[in-house]
Amino acid sequence: MAEKPLLQLPFFFCFFLPFFSLLVGTANAKSTIEPCTGTDSCPALLGYRLYADLKVSEVAALFQADPVALLAANSVDFSVPDVENRILPSGLFLRVPAACSCSGGIRRSLSTRYTVRPADTLSSIAASVYGGLASPDQIQEANNIQDPSALDAGRTLVIPLPCTCFNSSDNFLPAVYLSYVVRQGDSVPAVAARYSTTVTDIMNVNNMGSPSIQQGDILAIPLPACASMFPKYASDYGLIVANGTYAITASHCVQCSCGPGNLNLYCTPASLAVSCSSMQCSNSSLMLGNYTSQQTAAGCSVTSCNYGGFVNGSIVTRLSASLQPRCPGQHQFPPVIPPPTTVLRDSFLAPSPSPAEAGGTITTPRSSVPGTSTLPGVSPASGPTGSTSSVRQLSHTRCLFALSLVLLVLLF
Ligand SMILES: *[C@@H]1O[C@H](CO)[C@@H](O)[C@H](O)[C@H]1NC(C)=O
Ligand SMILES: *[C@@H]1O[C@H](CO)[C@@H](O)[C@H](O)[C@H]1NC(C)=O
Ligand SMILES: *[C@@H]1O[C@H](CO)[C@@H](O)[C@H](O)[C@H]1NC(C)=O
Ligand SMILES: *[C@@H]1O[C@H](CO)[C@@H](O)[C@H](O)[C@H]1NC(C)=O
Ligand SMILES: *[C@@H]1O[C@H](CO)[C@@H](O)[C@H](O)[C@H]1NC(C)=O
Repeated sequence: MAEKPLLQLPFFFCFFLPFFSLLVGTANAKSTIEPCTGTDSCPALLGYRLYADLKVSEVAALFQADPVALLAANSVDFSVPDVENRILPSGLFLRVPAACSCSGGIRRSLSTRYTVRPADTLSSIAASVYGGLASPDQIQEANNIQDPSALDAGRTLVIPLPCTCFNSSDNFLPAVYLSYVVRQGDSVPAVAARYSTTVTDIMNVNNMGSPSIQQGDILAIPLPACASMFPKYASDYGLIVANGTYAITASHCVQCSCGPGNLNLYCTPASLAVSCSSMQCSNSSLMLGNYTSQQTAAGCSVTSCNYGGFVNGSIVTRLSASLQPRCPGQHQFPPVIPPPTTVLRDSFLAPSPSPAEAGGTITTPRSSVPGTSTLPGVSPASGPTGSTSSVRQLSHTRCLFALSLVLLVLLF
């Protein structure tokens, strides 16, 4: 008779304990969660602050990102000699391009692997190495770690990272989303100003009732971007580049930039010495990015050679003719900076994604939904709306431990 309630107790306990911990008021960081269906991944950016002086290649390796794509996304000149061995300063803020996949019904990046070093703990990996983008509990769950105190050096961990795409648009305009870890002293108006967006937009996107944030919260910040229109079968389908930045694609053969004058993606041959298929538009003398213009009575007739995606290892070029009110001048590129060696006060660099470039395999984690509560549906508002969820959660281990304690207490 007493058997049934006793067996059910564990379930109730495990189910409600997370809510208890919320009520008790442990410092729970919030992060924005985007529900999703299907298996497609989309381009996103992770806002990452270096925890130590690191080589470009080391930062890229932390996220299994392409070093050149990483630099391009931050408008750092990637054509300087030996750029991968340049040392970037501790505290530098970078935008790391990441493939944002759909797993367990929510968007998150699961392509990051980290090899445990001696003296690492889940907290040091989450808070220090990954700058608060990851949480110890999520790493523990994603890797099915029974005993976090016994972390074997050399073990490779999946590091789940928060990302959102919201259909790569914001208020019906192309946008790429940056996962931003709130620092002490940040306020929503200050963050909005820094990223040229509005408090209202940040609140809508992050489904916030009030513009209050806490250190460690992770905000999704929409950045205006240039979208591509490549065919679905192109390997760089969905490429989107944040305003003021670059992306590298087509096996490092093509670089694309966005801004500053308009939000039309502009692609040219990349300045890297690699062997590439032809970048000349057929039936014309124009190369990728070249255009000719001629003033006519009706306006300016512009012929341009544009990039159409990377298909089966070849660069698709498209010759297009248009009539514009005015002839375009020399194309303006977003400014690039040399690899930084010092961190300016509140330094931050520019953005961009590059879906095809970020290496690493995307695997399905063992766990399902990382939040403690159920996910609400997508709001049909004009802008994208995420839901905010508590990042912290109970691991199975801890829950089982708590359960055994309860059972012991009940039995004796
Ligand atoms: C996503 O955006 C595309 C255009 O960028 C649009 O055609 C499509 O309807 C959007 N999908 C959703 C679910 O909003
Ligand atoms: C793009 O960036 C440039 C330079 O930073 C800025 O002047 C322009 O307003 C930005 N465009 C949009 C749509 O945000
Ligand atoms: C090249 O141009 C010629 C004449 O202008 C035209 O007949 C031919 O179809 C064009 N070829 C391609 C591949 O567009
Ligand atoms: C065409 O594009 C190439 C490569 O970007 C560039 O070197 C060349 O100057 C351009 N030519 C013209 C006429 O714009
Ligand atoms: C790419 O190549 C495969 C075979 O190698 C072919 O079946 C496919 O049609 C090609 N796709 C395009 C878009 O050319």
